[in-house]
Amino acid sequence: MPELAYVNGTIMPIEQAMVPIEDRGYQFGDGVYEFVASYQGRWFMLDAHLDRLERSMRELAFDTIPRSEIKVAIRDLSERSGYPRAGIYIQISRGVAPRNHAITPDIPPQIIMTIRPVKEIPEEMRNNGATAITVHDTRWGRCDTKTVQLLANSLAKQNALDSDCDDAIFVSDQGIVREGTSSNLFIVTGDQLTTHPLTNSILPGITRKVVLDLCKTANLDVKESFFKTEALYGADEVFLTGTVTEVLPLVCVDQKPIGNGKVGPVSRRIYTLLHKKAMAGELE
Ligand code: PDD
Repeated sequence: MPELAYVNGTIMPIEQAMVPIEDRGYQFGDGVYEFVASYQGRWFMLDAHLDRLERSMRELAFDTIPRSEIKVAIRDLSERSGYPRAGIYIQISRGVAPRNHAITPDIPPQIIMTIRPVKEIPEEMRNNGATAITVHDTRWGRCDTKTVQLLANSLAKQNALDSDCDDAIFVSDQGIVREGTSSNLFIVTGDQLTTHPLTNSILPGITRKVVLDLCKTANLDVKESFFKTEALYGADEVFLTGTVTEVLPLVCVDQKPIGNGKVGPVSRRIYTLLHKKAMAGELE
């Protein structure tokens, strides 16, 4: 089955897809994106992802694109590729114009998408948990918009891999724990779950919101408030949330074991709740 790309209305094999060098996404990182995944052919929280995409575009004053155009493209890519468990990157750049920091008016946004089978979290990591380092958050001030400017995230991830860990967690100058390089983060302390509140410093994760709702239905006590690295190191459990990541326990951070260093019951329970509902198509 082919891995496909969509470029402004045309579908083609990924290797054939090109963007012009004067695309502002390439020149300035002037683009936004979303990543959506399917379970058994059904897209997880698609409208929530498209709401966030439209919000990112609005916040950066992009011209609008009808949602129907994106949905038709997603449907066509899914049908043509036929993957039951697929991931689609939707990337929209402000447009193509001769290089100039000032934004050329009236240039149409460029839409590209790619579809591939999801690269799952390895079973061993799901069962035994993952490890992370903390890194200083050097990202810009609008991490609530999902822009293609991912250099800090990419360097932090590589830094983690070079340290024989699986991921990195961004921490502010004041020691406030923000999020992972492509995921949000929760801690569990006693009966209390805590995650960073929605501010400009983190991405409003779709999985984060689903997990908050699942916790509430399961009568788990969850709050959105700031916490520091001491609370992270001292937590009983820590987990990351994200598309594909789903709910991934961290059992060691900065070489310190979290809790007893094993995957804990709360993380396991929330993962199972989320995964079952997603597979049943209850989270579309
Ligand atoms: N990233 N925080 C950051 C910085 C992210 O990049 C992501 C997602 C999340 C989790 O958001 P969601 O639950 O909506 O997937 C949090 C995607 C998966 C990516 O960059 O590929």
